[in-house]
Amino acid sequence: EYAVVTKDSWVVKRLDTGEPVEKEVHEISWTLDMAEKAGFPHFMLKEIYEQPRAIRDAIHGNRETIGRVAREIANYDRVIFVAMGTSYHAAIAGKYLFQKLAKKIPIVEEASEFRYEFEDLIDENTLLIAITQSGETADTLAAMKLAKRRGAKVLAIVNVVGSMATRIADLTIYTHAGPEIGVAATKTYTTQLTVLTMLAIETAAVLGTVPLERLESLRRALLSVPEFVEKVLELDGSLAELAEELKDRRDFFYIGRGIGVPTALEGALKLKEISYIHAEGLSAGELKHGPLALLEDGVPVVAIAPDGRLFNKMVSNIEESKARGAMIIGLSNRGELSKVADVFIQTPDVDELLSPIVYVVPLQLLAYHLSVLRGNDPDKPRNLAKSVTVE
Ligand code: BG6
Repeated sequence: EYAVVTKDSWVVKRLDTGEPVEKEVHEISWTLDMAEKAGFPHFMLKEIYEQPRAIRDAIHGNRETIGRVAREIANYDRVIFVAMGTSYHAAIAGKYLFQKLAKKIPIVEEASEFRYEFEDLIDENTLLIAITQSGETADTLAAMKLAKRRGAKVLAIVNVVGSMATRIADLTIYTHAGPEIGVAATKTYTTQLTVLTMLAIETAAVLGTVPLERLESLRRALLSVPEFVEKVLELDGSLAELAEELKDRRDFFYIGRGIGVPTALEGALKLKEISYIHAEGLSAGELKHGPLALLEDGVPVVAIAPDGRLFNKMVSNIEESKARGAMIIGLSNRGELSKVADVFIQTPDVDELLSPIVYVVPLQLLAYHLSVLRGNDPDKPRNLAKSVTVE
């Protein structure tokens, strides 16, 4: 087939017969200036700063879709998340959200593993939720096709309109983040988290697994998240200074508990992707089962410790790290963390279930500044691609 495009018309024709071919039209509401840097030094920084707007669009652009999809999800006991990279971390956060709110225990698998290991375990009683900002990641598409072949229902959470994933899926939710040029995902991650939070809340509403007043308070709190993100963006300058102090460190640890774990994983991945400093994200409880042997004087440990029932546990993990000489960078809305952290990053009072969206922003900024200080191009990190369309 070939297309003939003029300034006010277009037609697709068959190469062999020249016959016109009907095509589905997708309206892409992205303008050229949206894809420009708008005065920022890098696309990645612009996209980090676009997150309040992107999160608002993810919320308001999906109002009726979320309700409809939640009713679909409520029908399935077996829910499997598949994704890669940063989207995989969003899937892990989705798991916590569905456990806490919809009282479901989703399976979370890297699509590259799922596609080879789950062949005979999938049937029509399965709902596969694929998270992919580009909608073109080969492993994720393969996992979706496998699930379809096995009769499963497939939901895709995607940013790029009309991408391949939206054609394979039975249901699609768009994250409305707008074009993301930086190779390392930022606003597509926080909008994925936003969509997953809405899905978990509305699935809980359908299933009646959470008191209505709790759901109402979460719905209201979600509407305030863009302002909370604006607030943590104000920390940009101090994070740039912190990056100055850390730019020659060679090994970072990011620790969290509960829904703080995906934030720890994502913080570590951001650092690796664009600064090329080695980093490991892990659940804080795992420290004593190995990683503690790697702690020595000056090794930075980034601790995600929002207020909540696991806060004191995080404090003890911080103290056990400090005892080995680690330099603690603590993120919390509870000021008392400043007593144990060498560097304290004050975050706003956001509900623990919404904390992944807010707490990742300082980690994105820290990784960005370290990348620039080390002379890298944060938009185009070495060896990486925006979308891995091959295995
Ligand atoms: C990588 C990107 O290539 O693919 C990451 O650099 C991204 O930013 C990962 O998280 C998965 O991509 P997608 O499009 O499936 O979310």
